[in-house]
Amino acid sequence: MENDWQTILSLGAEGGSITLLGKEQHSGEWVFKKAVNEMNFDDLEDESFQPTKSTEKVCTLKSPISNRGNEATSWEKAIKLLDHYPWPMLNPREVHPAFRKRVWSALQKEVKGKYGDRINSYRLKKWSSLCLPEYSPKVDTLSKWLQNSTHTTILTGAGMSTESNIPDFRSKEGWWNNIDPRTVATTDALRDDYDLFHEFYSMRINGLKQCKPNIGHDILADWEQKGLIQAIATQNVDGFHTLAGSKNIYELHGSIHKFRCGNCAMSAEEEDFLSESNCKYCGGKLRPGVVLFGEMLPEESWRDSLTHIQKSDLVIVIGTSLEVYPASQLPKMTNGKTVYINAEVDTTHHNFDLMIEGKAGEILKLVDELV
Ligand code: APR
Repeated sequence: MENDWQTILSLGAEGGSITLLGKEQHSGEWVFKKAVNEMNFDDLEDESFQPTKSTEKVCTLKSPISNRGNEATSWEKAIKLLDHYPWPMLNPREVHPAFRKRVWSALQKEVKGKYGDRINSYRLKKWSSLCLPEYSPKVDTLSKWLQNSTHTTILTGAGMSTESNIPDFRSKEGWWNNIDPRTVATTDALRDDYDLFHEFYSMRINGLKQCKPNIGHDILADWEQKGLIQAIATQNVDGFHTLAGSKNIYELHGSIHKFRCGNCAMSAEEEDFLSESNCKYCGGKLRPGVVLFGEMLPEESWRDSLTHIQKSDLVIVIGTSLEVYPASQLPKMTNGKTVYINAEVDTTHHNFDLMIEGKAGEILKLVDELV
């Protein structure tokens, strides 16, 4: 029925509009068609018009055989119906809720492709408010703060790496839901139950080998390159910020890629640790260079992180429960604006100037599109 057609994407321009219409079939599949109203686009194809309203002309087909670019039976083909028009540059007026993400990703392809920076930030904000209503005001705010800040420090936690398939610690799938940290991540465990200690860290080391940095790590590295951020203080030991290309990184809890003797502190190799070899200097037990519960943080990393935090006019905290001292105190030690990006945000985080609940990679991507 004609009235089953829904507006998928409506675009305004001088003197007219383009609408991508869609109709959901009983099968759940969608069919699409284009409606062009009084556009003075030269390349408008010569379809037979059946004016439905005074100004609206719906392009229909002369015959099924001449189905040339007015109807589509897949989203990929539907968005191509707009290829004749500079649609990302037009004024977006409506996006169907079920197609917001698809329209946004189609737009990103165009922005990254032929339109580049010809779409001004006002227009992009209009698009983001229609396609990403759940984030856009906060994402807009963060993108503005990021562009206006003179010194920005990022503090990350394990939530930064879950999108690389590395478990965090305190979420429901986190490490500490199945293992008591006191049995594996303390100096007592190192001394009294080396087998379990060794098994836990070997599992994490080998697990890392199948994982790689995600889009969130890549964006932070890109922002550092662009001068948008100045430093990353991380509680993570996976080395993914370095792997993604970030340079100014402070590993507050050490690195799982470094090894030393638990007795004489002489450095050792990964394969010596994994093969349970003893220290070749004193015969002591080998351990990874991570900070165990109860141990002091590396003094230099802490000092340099604190210096950046105190200098910052913007501190963005990403993917951490802020349960572990003293890293959890860093956001309180700045006079700058503070932002909390986390999959779980609750009232205990109320002292942040801006809180955005969601996945780090997804949110950083949204902000990245606006900076
Ligand atoms: N995007 C954003 N946030 C996420 C994501 C994600 N994709 N995945 C998980 N999170 C959130 C979780 O909701 C949780 O609040 O990240 C937070 C991770 O918190 P923890 O698991 O406690 O990890 P972290 O804060 O880094 O732990 C600090 O505790 O056990 C020690 O040494 C360990 O460095 C670690 C320290």
